[in-house]
Amino acid sequence: MGICGYLAVPGKCLVVLGLKLLFLVPAGVPARSGDSVLKDNITVRQGDSAVLKCNVDSKVSRVAWLNRTTILFAGKEKWSLDPRVILMENTAITEYSIKIQNVDVHDEGPYVCSILTNKKPKSTKVHLIVQVPARITNISKDITVNEGSNVNLMCLAVGRPEANIIWNHHSPRGTHKLLTEGEHLELRGITKEQSGSYECIASNDISNPDARTVQVTVNYPPFISKARGTGTPVGQKGVLQCEASAVPRADFEWYKEDRRLFNGLNGVKIENQGKQSMLIFFNVSEEDYGNYTCVAINTMGITNASIILYGPGAMHDVNGGAVLPRISTCLLLTISLIYLLKF
Ligand SMILES: *[C@@H]1O[C@H](CO)[C@@H](O)[C@H](O)[C@H]1NC(C)=O
Ligand SMILES: *[C@@H]1O[C@H](CO)[C@@H](O)[C@H](O)[C@H]1NC(C)=O
Ligand SMILES: *[C@@H]1O[C@H](CO)[C@@H](O)[C@H](O)[C@H]1NC(C)=O
Ligand SMILES: *[C@@H]1O[C@H](CO)[C@@H](O)[C@H](O)[C@H]1NC(C)=O
Ligand SMILES: *[C@@H]1O[C@H](CO)[C@@H](O)[C@H](O)[C@H]1NC(C)=O
Ligand SMILES: *[C@@H]1O[C@H](CO)[C@@H](O)[C@H](O)[C@H]1NC(C)=O
Repeated sequence: MGICGYLAVPGKCLVVLGLKLLFLVPAGVPARSGDSVLKDNITVRQGDSAVLKCNVDSKVSRVAWLNRTTILFAGKEKWSLDPRVILMENTAITEYSIKIQNVDVHDEGPYVCSILTNKKPKSTKVHLIVQVPARITNISKDITVNEGSNVNLMCLAVGRPEANIIWNHHSPRGTHKLLTEGEHLELRGITKEQSGSYECIASNDISNPDARTVQVTVNYPPFISKARGTGTPVGQKGVLQCEASAVPRADFEWYKEDRRLFNGLNGVKIENQGKQSMLIFFNVSEEDYGNYTCVAINTMGITNASIILYGPGAMHDVNGGAVLPRISTCLLLTISLIYLLKF
């Protein structure tokens, strides 16, 4: 500490001077020159320990380990202030190895074992490579936008080697699609089909990929997907059904001609369940028959559909109208058959 502190006065530790003082380096010769051997790279994961090995022989008079140009150990004396750097219990006389605990990314780089044998300098260079598993550090927050907007999603990740980022889209319908690679995902003029969760996956083969999702909600005006009336005889319960797809969810209003209908008045009940609204007649009378309008509203817009409440004879509804007579015919046939079989 004392020596290094003294040597480090102008800012940097004056290593060459330090080595000269230790008689490790002949005057004017940098530590790197001489017989330099490049060992294989050492690859460790961030947080693990790295062992830097150096072989020496009995003729060696001086040894030192350097990180770049900074002395870590000179002989048995520790110059580094870093508690993570320790001299190994080098049992064999031909071994002079150090250990770096809890390796971090800034430890990456060249390490040199400098040896002085018969006043001839020699060095072994080891390149420490630090790997970091891919990890997502920041991702866009969940967002709600209106149909047609431009959406930019971001997913930042760290990793060594650099993390590879991909985006997947999972739609509410359950479809799954790989979209693109990279930190940024741009959706221009977003459609309601593009709502759902966007999954960012960062990977670099060091460990399992890291994945996180952003929820994208797309607001759109209502559209009526089902508008159905039934043929109902006088004195029975009648139901008109209206179903609207919308985000945010639609509110419903019911009209007969220009007159708005309210829940509990005029013998009708309005029942809303999720995306569906039902106009229920407790006891259908002759005056109830006619043309009704279901109106679906949300912050994005408004739409309507007409639904007819008709008597058993009149078949207005396309779907119901086709089905009802067939059932009657079928019933008639069955009844006739039963009747015939009795005799
Ligand atoms: C050691 O790592 C360096 C830097 O990453 C690279 O340029 C070199 O090719 C590697 N050498 C070996 C032997 O893997
Ligand atoms: C090696 O040197 C770098 C750059 O000065 C430093 O950030 C790092 O902590 C050093 N590592 C060790 C183990 O001395
Ligand atoms: C994530 O990125 C956003 C936008 O660039 C920034 O405002 C926010 O502070 C970042 N959050 C973190 C935890 O870094
Ligand atoms: C339905 O209305 C008619 C006429 O208003 C009435 O005679 C009949 O009892 C009602 N039926 C029911 C089930 O309330
Ligand atoms: C019901 O009324 C709407 C307008 O309010 C009209 O467009 C539609 O043709 C009518 N349907 C019938 C069957 O009269
Ligand atoms: C239904 O929509 C049409 C045009 O989209 C509009 O002219 C009409 O007034 C609407 N009816 C109701 C009851 O809102």
